[in-house]
Amino acid sequence: MNHKTKSFIFKSLDILPNSLGYGIYHQLQKFLNRNSVNFKVKTNGRSFEEALEILSKEAINLENKTILELGSGWAPIIPYSFIHSADAALVVTYDINEHYDSKTINKLNTYYKEHYNTDIASEKGKYALPNNVKYYPKTNLADTSINIGEHVDLVFSRFVLEHIPPEDLLKIHQNFAKILPKSAYILHMISPSDHRAYDDKSLSYYDFLKYSPEEWKKQHTKFDYHNRLRLPNYLEIFEKAGYEVISLDYDTCDKNSEKYRKFKELTLHKDFQNYTEEELLAGSINVLLKLA
Ligand SMILES: C[S@@+](CC[C@H](N)C(=O)[O-])C[C@H]1O[C@@H](n2cnc3c(N)ncnc32)[C@H](O)[C@@H]1O
Repeated sequence: MNHKTKSFIFKSLDILPNSLGYGIYHQLQKFLNRNSVNFKVKTNGRSFEEALEILSKEAINLENKTILELGSGWAPIIPYSFIHSADAALVVTYDINEHYDSKTINKLNTYYKEHYNTDIASEKGKYALPNNVKYYPKTNLADTSINIGEHVDLVFSRFVLEHIPPEDLLKIHQNFAKILPKSAYILHMISPSDHRAYDDKSLSYYDFLKYSPEEWKKQHTKFDYHNRLRLPNYLEIFEKAGYEVISLDYDTCDKNSEKYRKFKELTLHKDFQNYTEEELLAGSINVLLKLA
C-alpha cells in the first residue's frame, strides 16, 4: 500500500473515537498480516541474531535470565526467540497498545511445532502464550507507579523508540534507572528513518527532515507516529537518565548511493541543519546501555 493511501486511511481513523479507530486499525492490520508469520519470523530472526552478536561481544549470557521487552508489537516472536534460542527463563513484554491477536499467536505456535517440534503454548489465557512469556498490554512504562515485580537482567526493544515521544523516552529511562537492578543492560534497536519510504520508493529515507514540527504533525497520526529524533538526541536522553553507552553501531550512507543522492536533494528544515551528515544519516541504530 503506498504511503499516501496509508496516510489517508490513518487520518480518517484518527478522527473516529479511539476504540472504533483502533478496532478498524486492528482489523486492517490482521488483513495485511494474514499470511506473514513465516516472513515475520525471518525478519525478526535477523534482528535477533544481530542482538545476540552484540550481547556476546560483551560476554552477556541470557541463560536463565529475565528479559523485559519494550514494545511487544503484533506477535511474541522476539520473546519466543529469547526463550527458545537463548534459554532465557522469562520474558515480560510491555506495550502501550494491545496489538496481539489470537490467530497470529496460534499460527506462531503452529510454526514452532512444525519447525522445532515443540509445544510452546502451555497456558490457555486470553492468548495461547507459554507460561514464561507474560504480556502486559496497555501499559506505559513512563508511569512512575509501575511495579515490574521481576529481577530484570536485560531490557530489549526493536523498532520501538522512534515511535515514542521524546518526553516519554526520558521518563521511561529514568523509571528504568529507578526500578531495575543496577546490573541490568538495555539493548535498543532503533530505525530512525522515514518509514513512509519503505512503501514508496520515490521518497527519501530522510524525507521527513524537510518538515517543521507543525508540518510533520499534520503528516502523521497516533497510528504512525515517528519522533524524527537523530542519533545525538537519543544519546542525550540516555545520558540524562543516567545511562552510559556500552556499545553503539549504526549504518552510514554510501555517498555513491541513490539513498544519498535523494538525501542531498532535500532542503532540510532549520531544526536539522546543525547536525553533521553522519548524525542525520545514521540508520539502524543498535545501542547497548548500562547505568553509569
Ligand atoms: C513498530 S512496532 C514494533 C513491534 C515489535 N517490537 C517488532 O519489532 O515487531 C512498535 C510497537 O511499539 C509500541 N509502542 C509505542 N509506544 C510505546 C510506549 N510508549 N511503550 C510501549 N510500547 C510502545 C507500539 O504499540 C507498537 O506495538
